[in-house]
Parts: sequence; structure tokens; C-alpha cells
Amino acid sequence: MFSLLQLLKDGQFHSGQALGERLGISRSAIWKQLKALERELGLDIHKVRGRGYRLADPLSLLDSGEVAPAGMFPWTVHIHDVIDSTSAEALRLLQANEPAPFLVLAEQQTRGRGRRGRQWVSPPAQNLYMSLAVGISGGARQLEGLSLVVGLSVLAALRAMGLREVGLKWPNDVLVGNKKVAGILLELVGDPADLCHVVIGIGINVNMREMDGGIDQPWTSVRLELGHTVNRNRLARSLSNHLRDDLARHEKDGFAAFRAEWEEAHLWQGRAVELASGVQVVRGEVLGISEAGALRLLIDGSERQYSGGELSLRLSDDS
Ligand code: BTN
Repeated sequence: MFSLLQLLKDGQFHSGQALGERLGISRSAIWKQLKALERELGLDIHKVRGRGYRLADPLSLLDSGEVAPAGMFPWTVHIHDVIDSTSAEALRLLQANEPAPFLVLAEQQTRGRGRRGRQWVSPPAQNLYMSLAVGISGGARQLEGLSLVVGLSVLAALRAMGLREVGLKWPNDVLVGNKKVAGILLELVGDPADLCHVVIGIGINVNMREMDGGIDQPWTSVRLELGHTVNRNRLARSLSNHLRDDLARHEKDGFAAFRAEWEEAHLWQGRAVELASGVQVVRGEVLGISEAGALRLLIDGSERQYSGGELSLRLSDDS
């Protein structure tokens, strides 16, 4: 389906026969894929006898010149049409000694991964899937609160696109109300006490409108919230700008410099929550975040702090 999109993205007419020849499939297979494109991506495809098919509006696919104009970012950019997972690809590149930092983006992921072993639903040409590989040389302290800082970068980029009602849920869900609009997954390779790399994986539901099954939690997209499609290249560039600046500030000043801003953006500040870690569940009230990015909970009158990627929060009146 994606190769067909590549052929049609110019908005010009293409005959069914020419499309079939280019892709090595029959005209009826082309027709089926066109129907799938209309249904799944909400694309308008015009058919004119004798001329063929064309997209009503040219489609903007990811473009490295638009995502990262020359000299704007300290990283190289790799864009794929289809990949298993941009984070898996970034880890493979690190393994092959590709010098960090670098950014991997894809139009579609076949095995997008989310936190806690979940899948990240990644249909083609609608959303952003990106992974930034960076080197960490300052030891474990440089990792403290890093994923929370990335949440702030995503938030700033979404706000710049006009999404106002967006906030964070510890540790790094990006939500509109209780619906997830973006997710962040950090994966570490090497020795955190010495030299290591972090792959910062970010998925943003940008123009996705419907998804039959597959997503096991309430979700929304920027388009559903704003009522119009969003230019993914612009969003990726804006997010890259925020990431570049926020990561540099985090390296210099640590998470302490972001703590107040993070608490300000926390949708569940002061709420009664449950925190699940493996089989253990604790209940308490959210006091805020520590200078290291740990969650501070008030439990039976005393404060306790929790950190770690496997924890998840839910409102205690959620059943
Ligand atoms: C979450 O579960 O909230 C985290 C989702 C992270 C998804 C992104 S999409 C780009 C990168 N590649 C992946 O396979 N996962 C991350």
C-alpha cells in the first residue's frame, strides 16, 4: 500500500495499468489497495475514465530537507518508508558503530514498540515515529529525568501547532484529557555509569482518525483535536528544535531546571492515584516530582518517592 502512495503522492493522474506495472501487481489488486487507502487513511482518490487515478490533494510525505534543513541540528537524519521500529533501527545502527547523535524516522512501523511490552500502532503516512540516538558521557546523573524532559519537548511542539489542552502524566505519557496523543520510550545501551547511548523513541498520533482495534487505551490525535490535518514535517522540525535545546539544557543544569515547568504540565498533580509496580500496588496522593524526576506520593501521611520505567499511574477511582 505504501509503495502505491509513493507513486500517487504527486497528485497527478496515473493509469491503473501503469501503477500495476510499476508495482508488479494486477489492476484489480491496485483497485483494492486504492480502496484501502481511501478507507484507512481517509484519502480522497479521483478516478477519471481514460486517465486513471489521482489523489485529490497531493500528500506530504516525510522529507529530510524539511524535517532538518542543512546545519540546523547536530544530528544526521535517516528516513525510511517502512521499518520494523525506528528505535530497533537506531539500536542496530549504534551496534554498527554509527556515530551518535542521529535521528531515525519512518512513515510506517511494522513492529512499533511501546512501554511495558505493548505494541505502538503505526499506520503509514499519518503519524510521527522518530527515534533520536544520543551519547551520554556524564554518568547516571545525566539520565535523571531525561524521559520527563523529552515529555516537555513533545508538549512544547504540540502546543506550537495549536494544541492547547495537552498535558503530561508521569512518567511520560502525553495526554489530552485522559486520551493519549503521544508516547515516549527510552532505551539504554552501554554502561550508564560510564559511556552509554540512549535511544529516545517518540510516537505522536498526528493525522490518524480511526483505527479498527489494536489500541488498547483511550487515544486521540492532533488532527482529531484541531479539526484539520497537520504538516508532519513541520511538527518533526519543531520537535527537533525543542529536543536540541532541552537536551542541551538538561545536560548542563540537570532535571532540577525543568522541575517546576514539569509539575505545571502534570495533569495529575494533587490527584489520588494508584501506582503499580509489578504485583505491588500503592495508593497515595501526588505531591509532585523530585529533582531527580521521581514521583513523590503522600502515603499514610508520609512522603515516599518512586522512580523507574515500569511504574504506571492510574486514578484510584478507576476500576
Ligand atoms: C508508549 O508506550 O507510550 C511509548 C511509545 C513509543 C512509540 C515510539 S514510535 C517511535 C519509536 N519506535 C518504536 O518502536 N517506539 C517508539
